[in-house]
Amino acid sequence: MNLSVKIGKLRMQNPVTVASGTFGYGEEYARLIDLNQLGAVTVKGIRLNPVRGNPTPRTVEVASGLINAIGLQGPGVDGFIKKYWPLLKTLKVPTIINIWGTTVEEYAEVARRFDALGGVGALELNVSCPNIKAGGAQFGTDLKLLAQVVTACRKVTKLPLITKMSPNVVSIAPFAKAAEDAGSDALAITNSYPAMAIDIETRRPKLANVTGGLTGPCIKPIAIKLVWEAAQAVKIPIIGMGGIQNAADAIEFMMAGATAVAVGTANFYEPQTAMKVIAGIREFMEKCGLKDVKEIIGSVAL
Ligand SMILES: Cc1cc2nc3c(=O)[nH]c(=O)nc-3n(C[C@H](O)[C@H](O)[C@H](O)COP(=O)(O)O)c2cc1C
Repeated sequence: MNLSVKIGKLRMQNPVTVASGTFGYGEEYARLIDLNQLGAVTVKGIRLNPVRGNPTPRTVEVASGLINAIGLQGPGVDGFIKKYWPLLKTLKVPTIINIWGTTVEEYAEVARRFDALGGVGALELNVSCPNIKAGGAQFGTDLKLLAQVVTACRKVTKLPLITKMSPNVVSIAPFAKAAEDAGSDALAITNSYPAMAIDIETRRPKLANVTGGLTGPCIKPIAIKLVWEAAQAVKIPIIGMGGIQNAADAIEFMMAGATAVAVGTANFYEPQTAMKVIAGIREFMEKCGLKDVKEIIGSVAL
């Protein structure tokens, strides 16, 4: 049975990775699961310099989901290379590094630094974070800026580029096409949805940042639709994510057109989820007599 897929030049031994920001930098989960069983490890977003993130509380549970406003806390490029890269570079599976910046030039500089590092599997451009006012949100929801970011990163690296799309647009198709035309090798769909929750006793917002990004099972049907729409618009592969809790969810994303999938919020309450998803995809293939996981991709019967 062949479970391997390709995301541009990046070969994954199975189609399951983890979603950026829900799996630390790999090491936090290394005692809980065998990282080498994943299709790839995707790390929390990194910009050039360290970032402290937002004041707490930064997360709040809502019905079937989570709202977070972490504020892209991170160690910066140098901090990441010093503290986390020594473990990641020893893994048998590729590392996807999620990067961001507040200017086109910063994205390109971070991409250049990781290109020079050697051994990185792929770069994922977070152009879609709704939490940073001066940052990502502008890039992922503006066709020109999106193209500029992808073009600038494309110029400085031959590493596979995955553009992580913002769901906060009227129609995803033109944005997917813009990323493809600018040289993106793949798309990741989707990032979180802008959201807010209020404590009615104190009348205070439940997050210190007031608003945050909604993730988890409640966004899954909306994410499936985005993947399906984007898959009609582009030829490049899509990594589907949004509320995946089990193999059935992952297979649904693949039937909608995703080549690979990422487990996100579920890592927080069940760190074994990605392992269970991989095993469940295998079982589904056995049950249906499929020899290659690629037979599932885009197989929704309309
Ligand atoms: C706490 C938290 C932190 C996140 N941090 C990032 C990040 O740094 N970069 C990024 O591109 N996406 C980030 N995301 C978005 C996830 O990668 C993913 O797109 C989203 O959570 C949808 O998947 P899920 O519903 O399975 O969690 C974060 C999500 C959560 C819940």
